Amino acid sequence: MRIFVVVGHKATTQPSFSLEDIPGTSGRLDILCRSVTAAFVLSHGIRKDVLVYLVLLGGETPKTIRLVGETLRHLNPDERTTAALLKKALAVEATPEWAMSTSGIFVRTGGLEKLLEDLKQRSVRLVYLREDGRDFRCLKDEPLEREMAFVLGDHTGMTAEEESLLASAGAEVVALGPTSLHADHCIVVTNWLLDTNAFMSDCG
Ligand SMILES: C[S@@+](CC[C@H](N)C(=O)[O-])C[C@H]1O[C@@H](n2cnc3c(N)ncnc32)[C@H](O)[C@@H]1O
Repeated sequence: MRIFVVVGHKATTQPSFSLEDIPGTSGRLDILCRSVTAAFVLSHGIRKDVLVYLVLLGGETPKTIRLVGETLRHLNPDERTTAALLKKALAVEATPEWAMSTSGIFVRTGGLEKLLEDLKQRSVRLVYLREDGRDFRCLKDEPLEREMAFVLGDHTGMTAEEESLLASAGAEVVALGPTSLHADHCIVVTNWLLDTNAFMSDCG
């Protein structure tokens, strides 16, 4: 299973945003929609072995949406359809327990700290993607059988507090090169690197 976690610092936790102006009314939920597309959508299908967590921090109470490739339905490549699915999820009454919205989409209250605790319980290998990290292609040196979770920020990156949460959770800091990319592009590159097993044997 490949897991992607994207943190939306301003992303709304309410369903009241407009599908006519997603970036302007939802706290840049558009970034998270594109990340969902990048994680799941293939030319003719959906990646079944992918799990995405969207951490939405733009509300009084943080919420997390979980999308499960195995059972995900109604996902199209366009941003608007994804935003409509997230809107439905945000209309579900969220509690600390996961509640299903549509097939393969779940929502609960809670933010990054709670999610990292869950991933720890699951013994996931945690990778924080950041421009100045270790070369991604050097991950081959270590066992890759473990489930891996790749954590990304939004247009504002990650806060110092979130970085220290990630460090305490044992996250490795890994780069896809020194150039700052969009979060969804990082996901495409990560999927490609894993699909093609593009690792280097000699990392010095
Ligand atoms: C648009 S970038 C954030 C821009 C910039 N880092 C900042 O803090 O304002 C969104 C996220 O993509 C990931 N990212 C971008 N470029 C990357 C790279 N070259 N290697 C690894 N991760 C990257 C990071 O997780 C980053 O938080």
